[in-house]
Amino acid sequence: MAINKQEHAQWSSSFGFVLAAVGSAVGLGNIWKFPYMVGESGGSAFVIAYLFCIALVGFPILVAEWLIGRRGQKNPVNTFADVAASEGKSRSWGIIGASGILGGFLILSFYSVIGGWALNYITKAGTGSFIGQDSDSIAATFDAMLASAGTLTIWHTVFMAITALIVGIGVTKGIETTAKVLMPLLGVILFVIVGYNVINGGFGEAVAYLFTPDLSKLTGDVMLAALGHAFFTLSIGMGIMIAYGSYLGREVNLLKTARTVVILDTVIALAAGLAIFPIIFSNGLDPASGPGLIFVSLPIAFGSMGAGTIIGTLFFLLITFAAITSSISLLEPTVEFLEERTPMSRTVSTIVASTVIWLLGVAALLSFN
Ligand code: PHE
Repeated sequence: MAINKQEHAQWSSSFGFVLAAVGSAVGLGNIWKFPYMVGESGGSAFVIAYLFCIALVGFPILVAEWLIGRRGQKNPVNTFADVAASEGKSRSWGIIGASGILGGFLILSFYSVIGGWALNYITKAGTGSFIGQDSDSIAATFDAMLASAGTLTIWHTVFMAITALIVGIGVTKGIETTAKVLMPLLGVILFVIVGYNVINGGFGEAVAYLFTPDLSKLTGDVMLAALGHAFFTLSIGMGIMIAYGSYLGREVNLLKTARTVVILDTVIALAAGLAIFPIIFSNGLDPASGPGLIFVSLPIAFGSMGAGTIIGTLFFLLITFAAITSSISLLEPTVEFLEERTPMSRTVSTIVASTVIWLLGVAALLSFN
């Protein structure tokens, strides 16, 4: 099917593109999922498997997605169909692009719910509500949030609205500008929290936990989990990097850019480990507590440690910033597709896509209510 509109956006600079791509890669995967997977999979064994998968599988696929996207210069469906046709292959390859768009669409519906948890926890940490609470009442606070459809819906709505607003504004003025503001802030906050940990203890233990090789724990399951996580954390396999590649000009060096994105994504995941585990260890908490690691274990520590309100608020701001620069990338391919393939403008495409995703998110949050 033909493309409706002629102009196609372009990143304003390769620096802007790098930040947007790093923004997409660095997200809940780095700050929420990576640390708890490390905790559940026995520490350094997972880290080793993950580094291996990132270098050998993630890096080449990332370059390939950008190459395909830059060659096609369209939404992932048309890009796949056009590139395949120009190589004498069937246009049905467009289905691969469509399945990627659908994947991003579905991921965003729950990603936004969890982004909403982080937003909610900024307000909890910022108002000092963890101070003086014991572990049971902090766990009860988390359970109460999960049990309240109203609370979950409100924060999911706020998160989705922020995402839609940025995407609706456009590729350069919305997505690129947001990444340029939020990514440096994220780096500064991470630096402050890790610095605080260096001074306040538990750091040596966390470094040993993350980096002392223990190959006995390197099982097939750990390898598989690491491989899945490599795809998730680099935002690959979802048409997103194809969409981002479609806004690229010829002058950008893709190998160098991919190296920067992969290194920054990995450094930030490891730094998130150094932001979280020292606090866990110095407060005698369990590193293997699963998805509740940052929403239960960390708040217990924030409630009892000096500067807990400030560090806690910074921490939840950090994770929210990371989540927003990823959620906008999850919405972009669908909006690019609707904008190019239907008569709808970018604004209307954004409203339609985000409303459907919002509804799916509400269905998801009601399911674990
Ligand atoms: N890479 C993001 C993260 O680590 C998540 C994501 C996955 C974003 C797939 C886009 C596509 O949180």
